[in-house]
Formats: sequence, structure tokens, C-alpha cells
Amino acid sequence: MSRAQRKISHINEVVKQTQFEPSSFDEMDIIHQSLTPLNWDQLSLETKCGELSLRSPLFINAMTGGGGFKTTEINQKLAIAAHEKDLAIAVGSQMSALKDEEEKNTYEVVRREHPNGTVIANIGTEATVNQALRAIDMLEANALQIHLNVMQELIMPEGDRDFSDRLQNIEQIIKNVSIPVIIKEVGFGISKETALKLKNIGVEYIDVGGRGGTSFSKIENNRREDRLQSLNNWGIPTLVSLKEVQAAYPSAHLIASGGIRHGLDGVKAMISGANMFGMAGPMLRTLVDEEVEGLLKKIDSIHDEIKIVMMTLGVSKPSELKGRPHVLFGKTKDWINQRL
Ligand code: FNR
Repeated sequence: MSRAQRKISHINEVVKQTQFEPSSFDEMDIIHQSLTPLNWDQLSLETKCGELSLRSPLFINAMTGGGGFKTTEINQKLAIAAHEKDLAIAVGSQMSALKDEEEKNTYEVVRREHPNGTVIANIGTEATVNQALRAIDMLEANALQIHLNVMQELIMPEGDRDFSDRLQNIEQIIKNVSIPVIIKEVGFGISKETALKLKNIGVEYIDVGGRGGTSFSKIENNRREDRLQSLNNWGIPTLVSLKEVQAAYPSAHLIASGGIRHGLDGVKAMISGANMFGMAGPMLRTLVDEEVEGLLKKIDSIHDEIKIVMMTLGVSKPSELKGRPHVLFGKTKDWINQRL
């Protein structure tokens, strides 16, 4: 299967995926407060994450590009929605466009539709410093994501097998890039051991990309004849990963993603330490089912949910959510008790 075909098959698999394992977010309850000192007009969604200043803590996370007409159309529509609502948006891996000039348009369309917005470039850990700089230039990007996807590559029969120089690669890129560099997982979560390694090479921004939403074990397994079913639920749940990273690296600029379904999950992520949160699969499914109009409505609902919970908790901006009273149950609580 060519790289372009694989990208289309990922999109089709994600759109089909409607059943998920139990979410770590369902194992957290926020404590309701009956008296709020706020007026709705005082609420603001303005968010800061390190050097990034954003109108909302919600962003559209890395998905696609480089697969021809269909991925260009999806990126264009996602970017139109991001522009309309002034959200940050990350593109999918640009590695293919760094090798084949003809694929650049599927990414550049995002900057065209969102001219003054926050656009985030995306590369793999195999990228050289020169490729990182070209990926940033291609989009006039405001930040760069480098994705960690060892498990995905290993389940792909044609995936990479040698990761021995990846930490040094990341270090070189960080030293030579002047915009924020975000290290992200793709749905398997980041442990405290990994966070410590990232801290030691100067990484400042971490998107935990935890388990609970889009599963690349399942997606890649569906393309293998000898399905490696036992690995389908591999990974660290998102809420747990947020706690793991903070334990090892409390001053990291922390970003949540992986299995965030709505504004309430986003608030739980921010109570658990995230500055902002990304959604990928749910955005794609909404776009495919309900077009840009449906996606705009979904973004409005997410913003309303965040503001309603903020107001109830007496919090006027997202940065004040961290550590608000909550309880944890089940596997999430066990995991945190044993690891932290
Ligand atoms: C992704 N994701 C992803 N991440 C990345 O860093 N580079 C990429 O090229 C891609 N490609 C990609 C394609 C598709 C179709 C999806 C749905 C996702 C991973 C994504 O950014 C995110 O980390 C995970 O999907 C988990 O978030 P959700 O989907 O549970 O919100």
C-alpha cells in the first residue's frame, strides 16, 4: 500500500470507528459548586501555553495531508472551521511533502484558509534539522509538532524498525528551531520515564496524546492479515499520562489529547494540568458526517460546555482550572496510586 493510500485508509478507519473502550475521563468527577461569584460576561477562553497565546484552549490536532484530493479537501474544511472560530490547527505529518513537492498543496491550503491564525507543523522523529525548518516554512508555522509513534510503526508491516537515533534528532531540532516545539504521542500516552528523557534534552512542550480515543493499534491491525489483537488497547490513558508527565516534569507546558470527546473532557484535562487540549478523530467524524456547518456547531457546543463548567466552579479563565476539586475512580485511580 502506498503512503497516499495509507492516509486515505486511516481516514476511512477513523470515520468508521464509533466504539471505544471505557474512557479515563469517565473515571473522574468534578465536584459541583452551588454558589458562583461570576457573571457570564466575565468569562474568557483566552489561553496561554508557554509562548503560544490562543483564543481558546481547544485546537484541532494533527490528522492529514499528502494523500491527494481527498486529504486536501479535508484539510481545507478543517482550516475553514479553525479560521471561523479562531482555533489553532495542526496539520498531519509533512514528511511526505518534504520528499515530494507535489504534495505540498495539501498542507499549504491550511495556511491559506487560516492566514493569521495559529498553524502547527508536524514531522516525525526521523526528520533532519533541515527538514524541520522546511516543514515550518511550508506553513509559516507558529509551532512545530514532532510525533512519537513507535507502537504504530511497529504494528505497520512496512513501518520503521530503527529508532536508535531519535532522541538525538529531536535534540538537534530543538536547538535549531526558534518557535515552540511540541513533542506529541499519537494515542499511546507519555510516561514519566519518557517525560524525563524529553526534559533532559530541553523539550518544553509535551502533548500527552494518550489512550482512550483514536487507536492506531486498531487502525493498523485492521490492515494486517495476522491481526495482533492483544495490542489493541496498548497505552497510557490520557488522564493518567497528564499526571505522569507532571510528576516527572512539573514545569512542562502541558497539552492534552487522546479521547477528548467534548468540552467536559477538555475541562477535566485542564483540571488535571493541561494548558490546552486537542481533538482529532471526533473533528474528522463530525466534518465527514455534518460538513463544516456541523463542525462549527460542535466547536460552539464545546466552548459552551467549558464556559458553563468554568462559571459553576467560579473560574473566569481556563488557566485557573488546574487542581479544582475532583475525585477519581477505578482503573485511573489505581494507576495513579501505583505510579505516583
Ligand atoms: C492522526 N494523528 C496524527 N498525529 C500526528 O502527529 N501526525 C499525523 O500525521 C497524524 N495522523 C492522523 C490521522 C488521522 C486520520 C487521525 C484521526 C489522527 C493522531 C492525532 O493527532 C491524535 O494524537 C490522536 O488521534 C488521538 O486523538 P483523538 O483522535 O483521540 O482526538
